[in-house]
Amino acid sequence: MDLTDSEKGMRDGEKGEPVRMAMEILLALGKIYGAERLIPTQSAHVAGLSLKSHGLAGTEWAEDLANRGARVCIPTTMNVVGVDRSRDFNFPKAWVTDQFRIETAYERMGCFGTSSCVPYYCGFVPRYQEHIAWSESSAVVFTNSVLGARDNREGGPSALASGLTGRTPLYGLHLNENRKGDVLFKVSAPLTNLADYGALGSYVGRMIGTRVPVFEGIQRPAIEDLVYLGAALASSGGVAIFHAVGVTPEAPTVEAAFGGKKYEVLEITAKEIAEGKEKLTSAKDRKVDYVAIGCPHCSLNQIKEVANLLKGRRVRKETTLWVHTNVAIKSLAKQLGYVQAIGEAGGVVTQDLCTILSNPEALGFKTLATNSPKMAFYAPGSNGFSVWYGGAEECIEAAVQGTWKA
Ligand code: F3S
Repeated sequence: MDLTDSEKGMRDGEKGEPVRMAMEILLALGKIYGAERLIPTQSAHVAGLSLKSHGLAGTEWAEDLANRGARVCIPTTMNVVGVDRSRDFNFPKAWVTDQFRIETAYERMGCFGTSSCVPYYCGFVPRYQEHIAWSESSAVVFTNSVLGARDNREGGPSALASGLTGRTPLYGLHLNENRKGDVLFKVSAPLTNLADYGALGSYVGRMIGTRVPVFEGIQRPAIEDLVYLGAALASSGGVAIFHAVGVTPEAPTVEAAFGGKKYEVLEITAKEIAEGKEKLTSAKDRKVDYVAIGCPHCSLNQIKEVANLLKGRRVRKETTLWVHTNVAIKSLAKQLGYVQAIGEAGGVVTQDLCTILSNPEALGFKTLATNSPKMAFYAPGSNGFSVWYGGAEECIEAAVQGTWKA
């Protein structure tokens, strides 16, 4: 790989052992993917920080890096972790202690403790065509598709390596030619809520794998709709970028989205949306003991919607309702009274953690209801939950009744 003098210095250890090790990771990646050189990156986002994915060996590795003086040199945000810093959920003590060790190590390296998969909701917004090194598949697909930034699906270690060096190898979605569409999906089905967008992403993700979908017919989606569509594509499939004609920046027209490539055309009707929903539902027992909203983490608007849906109602005593977001959005929601309204109705607005990466199964829940396609996809495997999937209204109804509607 062609390296600048400064990059050669980092590779040879002139900036210390942590930077040398970070260069080793980036150069190995570049070699695997045939990158000719490294490029400067503007920001990094490090995922895999929950004890569930990081593990104890990873914790010691991060502490060792921090002890040796590792410090990030570009804005580097942290993804969701396994505990909520504002309250005690009675998770096992060792879980909480070891989770805090991870967070402390990364914060000592200079990472921002955003603890969220939606850093773009709290001020970290990559610009169009900016090269970044973010991990967390839902954030990667959003920054590539909706913001038009350039990002590969990084892992936690490679994102941290970019944070420490300000570099990433030039390959994959950093190159314009790899960002063009492969399949056109003509959407005639009405998409009325996040669960519909999630079902669309789930259906298409399962079919398309890592190819690039282009959607035609999506009308005036809200930001949250695109966040959920992307999260579903990235979890049910391996999608890191999609285009929506007339909506996302690299698809002003169908022609621009495909850039002269040949493409397949498929239809999305109400039948495919129903199939997407069916695939995300794994529960049989209608009794619901856990309802979770916010995967990816909720926007302010989503929290307001939950507060409104709970007006004059109460979450059933035997059922737990968690609404996941980050500390920044929660602070604003608190100032506006939504957190208190949800609390008075028996729900909880959590910060920092999420169902998949935390440990709610330790509290004995069995059946989850959610409007999140990513949570519905992973919860059976990661938490052992059976899942009902539907809109926010259906989920809040389940929280109030303790059962999923027949
Ligand atoms: Fe975010 Fe956790 Fe879902 S990291 S995308 S809320 S699995």
